[in-house]
Amino acid sequence: MSIATARVGSNIAFIKYWGVADETLNIPLSNSISMTLADAHTTTTVAWDDTGVLERDVFVLDGATQSTARSQRLTRHLDILRDLAGVEWRAWVTSENNFPTASGIASSASGFAALTVAGCAALGLELDATRLSAIARRSSGSASRSLFGGFVEWAQGDSDETSVAFPLHGPEHWDLWDVVAVVSGEEKKLSSAGGHLLAKTSPLLDGRIAQVDGWLAEVRAAIAERDLHRLGPVIELDALAMHSVMMTSTPSLLYWQPGTLEILQAVRRWREEDGLAVYFTIDAGPNVHLICEAETALEVETRLGSLRSVERIITSRPGPGPQLLDEHLI
Ligand code: PMV
Repeated sequence: MSIATARVGSNIAFIKYWGVADETLNIPLSNSISMTLADAHTTTTVAWDDTGVLERDVFVLDGATQSTARSQRLTRHLDILRDLAGVEWRAWVTSENNFPTASGIASSASGFAALTVAGCAALGLELDATRLSAIARRSSGSASRSLFGGFVEWAQGDSDETSVAFPLHGPEHWDLWDVVAVVSGEEKKLSSAGGHLLAKTSPLLDGRIAQVDGWLAEVRAAIAERDLHRLGPVIELDALAMHSVMMTSTPSLLYWQPGTLEILQAVRRWREEDGLAVYFTIDAGPNVHLICEAETALEVETRLGSLRSVERIITSRPGPGPQLLDEHLI
């Protein structure tokens, strides 16, 4: 048995990936930029059965053995690794998130990145982070960015060689926090994988894509200068632009709940009336990520705690890239 364990942080995108240019390779319609999270991570152990006895991949997530249907995406990803290594072995995969599923923190990003790192290490494939980023991208675009710590950009590219993430700054560059306000812990009805395919049906898609290069430049500069008041307006604009594309797709994707809007309005009120330095972004779900500097995080958490629709709060700092661990989950 060849075994390895990896821990990888999830990430929150400041300029989003939404929609694909090439479905097979998972090439996005633009670059995207994110921050890797320290306090929301997935730990995954992959043990390959080199005896060839195991007939199918076995996937245990947060203590529960997953059905064949629920393991399909994982098996497809392991197929990529099997092809690379030239083996037909099946694997035992055990994965644990230290954050709740459907919390608004992307488990597919940290999950597929951890699966890639552990799976390749256990096969003895010595691949650098760029190569691992390309492999992770095939199953979850945002996972490509979790191969690096800190502030990360994923270049759109047009091939496995060029559509990869690269680091902009390490996690120590800026103590920027992500305070997630969870308004609903319910699992979403449509995964982002399905949503990417619908983006092209939105009449607003071209408008967002036409703007995105300018927004990326602004976000790069704001991060380099650690300027939250430069970063914030752009990340809010892009999150709203992405949700406008989602809402105007056919079928329409309406991820927001009444609580989502309550938080968006509260954030703007806190900023305008009290000068609180906090901005929002939203992924493919109803929960709201509040981005602020470390010194403001406690105040943001306290204020969120007083809003009726906030079920729970999860806070994370910028985190490191993948780590291989000596202790295994199996
Ligand atoms: O990587 P996926 O297929 O789970 O898509 C992620 C999509 C968003 O989280 C909404 C945006 C992003 O860039 O992370």
